[in-house]
Amino acid sequence: MQLKKQIKAVENNNTQIGYLNAKITALREPILIGVVCVVILIQVEFLGGQLAGIMISLLFFYRALSGLMIFQGSYNNYLSVSGSLENIIDFENELKVNKESNGNKDFKQFKDSIIVKNVDFGYDETDGILKNLNLEIPKNKTIAFVGESGSGKTTLVNLVGGLLKPKKGEIYVDGVSFEELDLNAYQSRIGYITQEPVIFNDSIFNNVTLWATPTPENIKRYEEALQQASLHQFIATLSKKGETMLGNNGINLSGGQKQRISIARELYKNIDILILDEATSALDSETEKEIQTNIDKIKGDYTILIIAHRLSTIKNADKVYMMDKGEIIDEGCFNDLFESSSHFRKIVELQEL
Ligand SMILES: Nc1ncnc2c1ncn2[C@@H]1O[C@H](COP(=O)(O)OP(=O)(O)OP(=O)(O)O)[C@@H](O)[C@H]1O
Ligand SMILES: [Mg+2]
Repeated sequence: MQLKKQIKAVENNNTQIGYLNAKITALREPILIGVVCVVILIQVEFLGGQLAGIMISLLFFYRALSGLMIFQGSYNNYLSVSGSLENIIDFENELKVNKESNGNKDFKQFKDSIIVKNVDFGYDETDGILKNLNLEIPKNKTIAFVGESGSGKTTLVNLVGGLLKPKKGEIYVDGVSFEELDLNAYQSRIGYITQEPVIFNDSIFNNVTLWATPTPENIKRYEEALQQASLHQFIATLSKKGETMLGNNGINLSGGQKQRISIARELYKNIDILILDEATSALDSETEKEIQTNIDKIKGDYTILIIAHRLSTIKNADKVYMMDKGEIIDEGCFNDLFESSSHFRKIVELQEL
């Protein structure tokens, strides 16, 4: 937004200077000739000067005057460039102010827990998107977030993933605050899976490894990832195995299979934390079952944060957080919540689980 405004300001500035330049260039010659004629007239008529002497002095005068005009042109050029420069300097300063901070405490592997402590968050000037959140995410547990659209689920997982910064409060990973943590190293241990995974029109191997060289070591990692994502059986039925082409955006795959490809892709990267953000509740029951199986298969081996709209997919989660308007209003395992939260029970019953 800011950048657009700056570009607009530079454009306006340049247009005005352009007009000024054009006018000065067009008027330069007539003005000069006018001035010369007036000077000759004054010299000859009123001061009795000699025409030859006048002509010579005028020659010098003319040269000096055109030098002055050129100076005017250069000054206009300077104005147009200096305006753009000022904008670039402002823009650079703004980038510096908003630069992502990256602490120097290295992060090799997730060992224990993530703790969110008294966290408040708002986008730009708006406050109250998340209000005083407190939660703990122990290693290798499956944690689910449910709640109405706009209740802040995606915002919360983005905070935990270090993509957003809390306005108040702290987030700790294995006891180290985000302020001190090398966030790039931490983020390289997180896999992110959306419900609309990107599938490239290429082989399964390339889709999972993102075009890794098929060295024995990479092939081993690829096969482990397939195993963990429950893809190996499906691939065994294909005549070309891992070399099978997946078609444009995975046209040859079901929704659940696409998700498994993207799970395998994340697991291949050697991660600790998996974030699954289900974008919609519009799933057919077959896909819904597949997704539940996919999650249950990797449950316990990874720390999984799952945002679910279809609650069947999180029946086996270790803990479910129910969110409403930026607050956690209930928490517990699926069955406990079903007993204790009328709100949760209502959604479950609406979905006829
Ligand atoms: N980039 C943004 N800038 C400003 N406001 C935003 C931004 N992203 C989200 N919001 C607002 O923050 C609030 C929480 O949004 P969030 O995406 O976290 O909700 P959600 O629970 O994930 O919803 P859904 O179930 O629809 O995905 C909403 O009111 C939304 O309008
Ligand atoms: Mg969301």
